Amino acid sequence: MSSYTVSDNKKVTTKRIRQMKADGEKIAMITAYDYSMSSLVDEAGVEIILVGDSASNVMQGNFTTVPITLDEMIVYGKTVARGAKRAMVLIDMPFGTYKGDPYEAQRNAIKIMQQTGADGVKLEGGSEIREAIELILRAGIPVCGHLGLTPQSVYQFGGFSLRAGEEAEAEKLKRDARMLQDLGCFCLVLEKIPAVLAKQVTDELQIPTIGIGAGNGTNGQVLVLHDMLGINRGFKPKFLRLYDNLGDQIVNSVGNYINDVKSGDFPNEKEQY
Ligand code: KIV
Repeated sequence: MSSYTVSDNKKVTTKRIRQMKADGEKIAMITAYDYSMSSLVDEAGVEIILVGDSASNVMQGNFTTVPITLDEMIVYGKTVARGAKRAMVLIDMPFGTYKGDPYEAQRNAIKIMQQTGADGVKLEGGSEIREAIELILRAGIPVCGHLGLTPQSVYQFGGFSLRAGEEAEAEKLKRDARMLQDLGCFCLVLEKIPAVLAKQVTDELQIPTIGIGAGNGTNGQVLVLHDMLGINRGFKPKFLRLYDNLGDQIVNSVGNYINDVKSGDFPNEKEQY
């Protein structure tokens, strides 16, 4: 049972997400990469489940999000979509699938939608992917933008540090945010930028912003599930709030199981046929 009470069981749509900003209701987004976790976070009542390319880190053990492929994202996406009864499911378009030929980007987004049953896609970047976004939107696919620390560009940035701390980059981010809204994106993720800037962008836009490491002035928040539950142990950036310590609990529970197997205590008479 969730500690949060969901007001209704209606499927969350882009219209509702936009309305939440108008109503001043904060949006809760979280990642998931499989059916079981998707079912649980859906039951808990999040509005959006993001099949983030952070799957590359937390599911595959890669250092960056660069190695994950379109077909792998589709497998994760399919299983998440099956578990989400109420929440909207968004899928990250992975590295190398939308920054070249915009028509290929459109084909890749269509493939994601057709093969996963998701409700939309998320793309990292601003003016440099304008045509790709236009074509994906023209195909009728909802798009969530993503600005600030866009992890697919980590090699270009030279690390995972705060973005848009300098005026020139902050101004570009504001222009890109306006452009994404004008093109028709229904929401925008802002990652690891100064809280003051995130609030300015949020106040200026009609579409909702969803922050991660961007302070409390955005219209919603997103966290990586494995980070906030303490499964991805050792990853403790300043912006992360740990809601559980499942990593320790899992190691402890499996240790108890091993002890029971080795001592012959498991299974007992009630646990056999
Ligand atoms: O891949 C991801 O999980 C993300 C969120 C951190 C926004 O893009």
